[in-house]
Amino acid sequence: MASPARQPLPEPAPAETARAQPCPAELQPGPDLPAAGSLDGPTAPDGLAVPDAAAFRRVVGRFATGVTVLTTVVDGHQLAMTANSFVSVSLDPLLVLVSVRQDARFHAPLLDAGVWGVSILAADMDQASRDFARRGADRPTDDGYGGDGRSGGGGGQLLGWRYSLGARTGVALLEGALAVLECRTVATHPGGDHTLVIGEVVALAAQRPDAAPLIFYEGSYLSVDQPARSRRASSSS
Ligand SMILES: Cc1cc2nc3c(=O)[nH]c(=O)nc-3n(C[C@H](O)[C@H](O)[C@H](O)COP(=O)(O)O)c2cc1C
Repeated sequence: MASPARQPLPEPAPAETARAQPCPAELQPGPDLPAAGSLDGPTAPDGLAVPDAAAFRRVVGRFATGVTVLTTVVDGHQLAMTANSFVSVSLDPLLVLVSVRQDARFHAPLLDAGVWGVSILAADMDQASRDFARRGADRPTDDGYGGDGRSGGGGGQLLGWRYSLGARTGVALLEGALAVLECRTVATHPGGDHTLVIGEVVALAAQRPDAAPLIFYEGSYLSVDQPARSRRASSSS
């Protein structure tokens, strides 16, 4: 995999104990960015919570997830979007799923390209999550797709980040990720205001065995204090 030079990622830092880092204000809570807060909310006459969007965000935000950066490439333009909807689906064949908002700029290129990458973020990569979750014109590195990651110039939405190009698909895979996958779309299904995209895994790699994962919970980033290796050692003793 070629490695175009980009602004260095932060040096891996020791993971910290369950440290909450709220999302910046510009990341307005949306269907994919559950708001933190009390579980109190309007209740129906039967005493149950009214199942509206606000209650939904509060409730699904209590499901802790990892964080990924999805990538795709159209006409040599590297595109990226933060997503925590990544799910493993099947072992035979190897399938994974992501759910992507239909009005996200990433949506059409993802479906057009038919190939995509998943970079599973380490605890010290919260800035990548924040950058690739910026909406529309707020994204500072967006130059209207321009640039070509392969040539080492420009880089579109990946400008300023270190990445390699997937050998099977040519999509960008972020340096420093805990693991990366390259996928080819095999099915799409409408899912309300999102599209569920199922991909066959055509290449994958696990990296940084000692690094801790970035965790998203109630709209904040958390990290755990034990690197993976020491967790494995303590669970086997
Ligand atoms: C932690 C986190 C997880 C997210 N997960 C998803 C997701 O699974 N699907 C999705 O469509 N958007 C998700 N988003 C929101 C997108 O990253 C964000 O809406 C998008 O980058 C905005 O780009 P746009 O201007 O092209 O719409 C997530 C955001 C954050 C911060």
